[in-house]
Formats: sequence, structure tokens, C-alpha cells
Amino acid sequence: MISVAIDGPAGAGKSTIAKAVSKKLGYIYVDTGALYRAVGLKFANAGFDTELNCNIENILSDTNVTIKFVNGEQRVFLDGKDVSDLIRTPNASMMASAVSAKPPVRAFLLDMQRKLAMDNNVIMDGRDIGTVVLPNATVKIFLTASANERARRRYKELTERGEKVDFNEVLKDIETRDYNDSHRDIAPLKQADDAIFADTTEGSFEDSVNLVLDIINKRLENK
Ligand code: DC
Repeated sequence: MISVAIDGPAGAGKSTIAKAVSKKLGYIYVDTGALYRAVGLKFANAGFDTELNCNIENILSDTNVTIKFVNGEQRVFLDGKDVSDLIRTPNASMMASAVSAKPPVRAFLLDMQRKLAMDNNVIMDGRDIGTVVLPNATVKIFLTASANERARRRYKELTERGEKVDFNEVLKDIETRDYNDSHRDIAPLKQADDAIFADTTEGSFEDSVNLVLDIINKRLENK
């Protein structure tokens, strides 16, 4: 099986780029952030905020997160309910970042991610795919863009969806998440030693898709 690990900070375009690349290659695209978002939603629904003043293991023991592919698109289910749209709010993002720093949450989601890569050709994106989840991935890419550019893209996406957001708030959220995701003790966001660095600050979406496709094809040719 072939596995492509794409890691990088929030808003670098990982998911849209990985989705487009996976269609071209006929691999399944696994968005691991959605799994953390679903877990974050569980804790939010249980009445907790990002402080997570609760017994995490207890809540996880009563939590079921699964994914299904519908017409090639990943849908994520929390306790049997499709939450794919509910997990896309700014609050869900902050809750995802908070739960993702907790070792029991990472352990809870690890096997599921590895199993998907064992059974399918995958493009998997996240923060620790090349470093922890799939250390033997066929191709590893670290995809990033400047914080300002990432905030601009996220702002556009949210406003196009009809959400009222302030650009500076979006930028602050991105910077806070960057800090949290790269400073946590467990599986922090960092480039794997053998990952190829790709910066998408400049250039169009198609340029980024082609850049990632080139990296994958070159790596596969040299295998
Ligand atoms: O990619 P995203 O924005 O949907 O991710 C939501 C949060 O989940 C992000 O702040 C960090 C966390 N995450 C993680 O810790 N490890 C992953 N493999 C994917 C996401």
C-alpha cells in the first residue's frame, strides 16, 4: 500500500490540496483533523471548555468516532451521528486543538488512523502523520504558508459560508493554534526529518496541487 503523509499548520491548504491530489491518484483522502474535531465536539457537548476540567478517559470510554466514505468524501460520525458539518466552527477548532494535546485522546485515535493506511492507498493529513502515525509513510510532505496568508484563506472560507468573523480574530486563532499544536508535549507539529518542505504562500491553488503531485510522483519513481 502507498501512504502519503501531509503535515502542517492550520489553514495551510492541506485538506483541499490533499483532496484534489487524492482524486487524481485514486487514493482515499483521510482528514485526521476531523477526528480530533469530533472528539472536541464530544467534550463541548458534555459542557466542557478548552480547560477540559474533566476525567478525559471516562468520557472517551463512552465515545465512538468513525469515518465513512460517501462518494469518495470522508464523513465523520460521533456516537452514530454525522457531525461532518458541525465540527467546522471556530469553537470546534479550538476544542480540537485542546483535546489533541491530551495523550489519551491521541491514543484513542491512533489505531484507527494506522488501520486505514494498512488497508488502503491513502493521503492522510494532520500534524503528526509523518512523525508518529505513519513513520514509514511512502512520501512525507510538510506543507505550510505564512500565518497571514493562512488567515486570509480561512477568513474567505468562513465568510463565503455566511459566517460573520473578524479577520484579526481569525489570525489570532490561527496563531494560538500554531502555538498550541507545536508546543504540546505529545506529538507536536514538526517537520519529520525525511519530509519534503512545501510552501504554498505564493502561487495559485493549482500550483500547489501540481507541486504536491510532483513531489509524490518523483518519490514513487525513485522507490
Ligand atoms: O487540521 P484541523 O485544523 O482540522 O485540525 C484540528 C486540530 O486537531 C488542530 O488544532 C490540531 C489537531 N490535530 C492533531 O493534533 N493531529 C492531527 N493529526 C490532526 C489534527
